[in-house]
Amino acid sequence: MHNGEAAPRYQFFDLKPALPDMTAEVLDGLSRASKSIPPKYFYDAEGSRLFDAITRLPEYYLTRIETGILRDNRDRIARLVGTGGCLVEYGSGSSVKSRLVIEACRPAAYVPVDISRDHLEQSARAVFDRYPELAVYPTCADYSVPFELPPPVAALGHLAFFPGSSIGNFEPSAAGDFLRGVAQVVGRAGWLVLGVDTRKDRDILDRAYTDAGGITEQFNRNLLRNINNAVGADFDAQSFRHLAVYNEAAGRIEMYLVAERDQRVSVAGTEVAFAAGERLHTENSYKYSPEAFVEMADRSGFDCADVLLDERAYFMVLMLRAR
Ligand code: AVJ
Repeated sequence: MHNGEAAPRYQFFDLKPALPDMTAEVLDGLSRASKSIPPKYFYDAEGSRLFDAITRLPEYYLTRIETGILRDNRDRIARLVGTGGCLVEYGSGSSVKSRLVIEACRPAAYVPVDISRDHLEQSARAVFDRYPELAVYPTCADYSVPFELPPPVAALGHLAFFPGSSIGNFEPSAAGDFLRGVAQVVGRAGWLVLGVDTRKDRDILDRAYTDAGGITEQFNRNLLRNINNAVGADFDAQSFRHLAVYNEAAGRIEMYLVAERDQRVSVAGTEVAFAAGERLHTENSYKYSPEAFVEMADRSGFDCADVLLDERAYFMVLMLRAR
């Protein structure tokens, strides 16, 4: 460094992302002919706890299979991306998966990126405590758009990691834009290790998004409780039931909350009416064939070096390299 001192091994970089206006977004979604709420509002503390419970459900194969793919392909991943680089994790959620990539690729630096300061700080500290050789630079930013990496990692090779098929929440056109942004962040010859759920038989998908124990229903309904608390509303969450349908033509699971009776809800002082049977759209979760995704990645500036699949091709981890 310019002052002759080594960079500290832990440094928090706050890029001060603008927080979304939840009230405005919720009111906008509820004012449409087909009502909807963005899925990012699932994740208050209770929603994050419920999502965690979902990832452990027998029906929710995504997390388990992806973790298995990463575990089974550690050597292959390390051979492709090499060691000693900078691992940039999009979101700071999945500690098991991060650990697998850290232990496979032995990066010199780890940059978890998240919009939630507290969550980011907490998970980054845990990684810092576990790996005494690893520099940890948590970066508070909105990763849906390109952002600046911390200066200490500028000279390292960059490896972005975006697991969990979170990219499935984007509309395909937005997913392409997002990938172009990641290519910009990692730079030419930088890597993206990306987890994506695959298209498969409807019954497997149906079970994954409507589990027998009703945890996904609780997760879906919790969105209304979060709105009650954060925006000031009086949703009766119990009067909405969970619905997940696979739209095969579009290749996506659609989640809804269905009003079980006519009702009026007050949302930040605005009256919103629901008719019995009316649907509130809460999430799209896109699934891709390997071929379609590789083609989209190619159009977005990435060459595909490998598609890692489990034996049933239920999930894929793409090894993408920016051109
Ligand atoms: C976190 C967006 C990947 O789409 O599978 C799980 C969210 N919704 N069950 C998914 C979710 C219902 C999940 N992602």
